[in-house]
Amino acid sequence: MKKIVVLVSGNGSNLQSIIDACQQNRINGYIAAVFSNNADAYGLQRAEQADIPAHFINPKTYADRTSYDIALLSAIDQYAPDLVVLAGYMKILSPEFVQHYYGRLLNIHPSLLPKYPGLHTHRKAIENGDKEHGTSVHFVTEKLDGGPIILQAKVPIFAGDKETEVIGRVQTQEHYIYPLVIGWFLEQRLVMEGNNAIMDGKILPPQGYASE
Ligand code: GAR
Repeated sequence: MKKIVVLVSGNGSNLQSIIDACQQNRINGYIAAVFSNNADAYGLQRAEQADIPAHFINPKTYADRTSYDIALLSAIDQYAPDLVVLAGYMKILSPEFVQHYYGRLLNIHPSLLPKYPGLHTHRKAIENGDKEHGTSVHFVTEKLDGGPIILQAKVPIFAGDKETEVIGRVQTQEHYIYPLVIGWFLEQRLVMEGNNAIMDGKILPPQGYASE
């Protein structure tokens, strides 16, 4: 069976959606391990509750990002993953890490990329008066939040919405689309070639599958 390694920094609700999808056979694979850069990440507890090996690697014990990432990838490779999934992993990756897992490294980002890379995306969308917001699953390349988009989901922003309301709406969509894309990848329907995401042999458009 195909093996997934998931990286988390926080709550891990996306991790939970992937755990559930594996248990319900919506993903034909299993999570071999979860890693975090944050000892207090609730995602580590979710992994333990699901009997998945959970590891904290402390960034403070490494001189720089590259040496941390090399230790991290050495630990990840003990599990020989087919796919590495970033699920709310909030540490910027070194080029060495990205290159090592090139074509088998996915991220979910809470905006309709290329809009709003980086942090505080929901707040920015509200402040700019956007009528819609959303989330994007993409392959990871060295450009931050800039790799080829696989699938997006849109949500409305209503007048008077608070940031927490928009976050909740976006996360509901994330919990649906991330397991879907992971399933596609493990079924080998989805690959990255050059700077393109390719699904069922066809290059996906810039906004990913099922874009309007
Ligand atoms: C998710 O909404 C994800 O899109 C975002 O962090 C949240 C993690 O939630 N990721 C990023 O902002 C990455 N740039 P979770 O820990 O409950 O899955």
